[in-house]
Amino acid sequence: MDNLKAFLLILCCTCVVPSVLAGRTSKWDHCGCRFADWQSWSKCSSECGGGRQTRERKVWMHTIAGCTEYSDCASSDTSYEFQNCNKICYNGGTYSYYSCNCPHRWRGSCCDEEIICGNPGSVSNGKVVGSEYFYGSTVTYVCNTNYNLTRGSYHQRCGLNAMWTGQKPLCLYANTCISNPCQNGGTCVDGLERYDCKCLAGWDGVNCELDVQPPIQSGCPNDIVRHIYSPTVVVNWTSPSFFDPMNTSLEITQNYPKGYWEFHWGDFQVQYVATKLKNGLRSECSFTVKIRPMPCLELSVGNHSAKVCTNWKTDFGQYCMVFCDSSFTLANENEFDQWYVCGASGKWSPSAELPNCQQQLDPSVIKKRKQYHFSQCNDMSSVNQMTEIFMKRFNSSEFSYFCKNYDKECSKENVSIIC
Ligand SMILES: *[C@@H]1O[C@H](CO)[C@@H](O)[C@H](O)[C@H]1NC(C)=O
Ligand SMILES: *[C@@H]1O[C@H](CO)[C@@H](O)[C@H](O)[C@H]1NC(C)=O
Ligand SMILES: *[C@@H]1O[C@H](CO)[C@@H](O)[C@H](O)[C@H]1NC(C)=O
Ligand SMILES: *[C@@H]1O[C@H](CO)[C@@H](O)[C@H](O)[C@H]1NC(C)=O
Ligand SMILES: *[C@@H]1O[C@H](CO)[C@@H](O)[C@H](O)[C@H]1NC(C)=O
Ligand SMILES: *[C@@H]1O[C@H](CO)[C@@H](O)[C@H](O)[C@H]1NC(C)=O
Repeated sequence: MDNLKAFLLILCCTCVVPSVLAGRTSKWDHCGCRFADWQSWSKCSSECGGGRQTRERKVWMHTIAGCTEYSDCASSDTSYEFQNCNKICYNGGTYSYYSCNCPHRWRGSCCDEEIICGNPGSVSNGKVVGSEYFYGSTVTYVCNTNYNLTRGSYHQRCGLNAMWTGQKPLCLYANTCISNPCQNGGTCVDGLERYDCKCLAGWDGVNCELDVQPPIQSGCPNDIVRHIYSPTVVVNWTSPSFFDPMNTSLEITQNYPKGYWEFHWGDFQVQYVATKLKNGLRSECSFTVKIRPMPCLELSVGNHSAKVCTNWKTDFGQYCMVFCDSSFTLANENEFDQWYVCGASGKWSPSAELPNCQQQLDPSVIKKRKQYHFSQCNDMSSVNQMTEIFMKRFNSSEFSYFCKNYDKECSKENVSIIC
């Protein structure tokens, strides 16, 4: 509107006929037109931040034909006027072209609304420093002594959206070891509302209160192996010792109470068990006593002969026979029926070598026992034949009870033939 006024003013000054103003019709004089006074300004459209208001005026004219309307006198825009009003910006805002530019922390069309985030809230076990809560303000959280900030941020800022930035902090107790909770020499490590105990060896539990120390042993004997002539032998050993580093009492049990025993042939497990009465933990020492008959030396094989033996027992209780190559035989003083037996004394009986099979010089002195001969020591049929005869003889011999004692092993497959 200011512009319009200026335009009218310029127009006025440059008119050739100043009495005829712009907007007046050609009938102005004819109709005897005259402007009435301006009426008062209307209410401003806005209380602040820039509004508009208008005023009106009427015209008078002669009541003659052709002179009835405002438009008969002047153009309708001369009947009213606009102006700007209430160009008010609060709180230091600056008005510019129908709006306010608001300073820091203010907003709204008149800069009359303050951006306030409100109280950021308290924090448990800590405090908030800072009391300004408007846009751009910062508050700082501080945890109490012995409390650590574990979440969120120390500093928060009031944002344009009237909200505090960041996550609210959490202050947790961090001096948890102050009460010395770890027992028995355990080391305490601070945590957040918890602590960890690092226990010394032998202790466990949240506060190292549990004795988890098993008994400690020393001097557990190695396995003992004895070869003996006699059927039994007294074996003694040094008992292991047990102790508890924590000096609580132990109960020790052993299956051979004396520390020595008269054993016969076989394997025997000797066992000591120490139990700590306080926690029931055990420690065990066990070893094997192996009592064996004396082994026999290898029974030597004679010329042109085969040594056929039970192979399931190669020490005491091994039985052997001799077989001859088909064109050889035993000397007269020897018998095929003879068993060669490894005795408990570790000696072969009747002798440590098998008799030789000798050249058959005289067919008339052929030994009748034709079945104790072989054609080719290592061919299948000879091996099968010798095995068969050997087992038959063994089963009907005075030693056949050995097959009953060694049921599984006593088989044709477990006969050895050495030439
Ligand atoms: C607590 O904070 C202090 C100082 O920053 C730090 O030394 C300590 O290790 C923290 N404690 C825990 C349990 O995080
Ligand atoms: C145990 O053996 C040792 C040495 O071999 C011997 O001196 C001791 O008399 C034996 N003890 C018994 C009870 O046989
Ligand atoms: C156990 O007793 C021994 C000897 O009396 C002592 O040196 C040791 O410190 C004791 N140990 C404990 C855990 O009490
Ligand atoms: C076996 O025969 C060889 C020669 O072939 C001979 O030297 C040896 O003395 C014989 N062995 C026996 C025990 O007769
Ligand atoms: C032969 O005897 C040995 C020793 O007793 C045994 O371990 C093995 O199983 C036996 N073999 C067969 C084929 O029976
Ligand atoms: C010898 O006897 C055993 C059982 O006593 C049997 O399994 C085996 O077959 C017999 N062997 C022979 C050759 O008779």
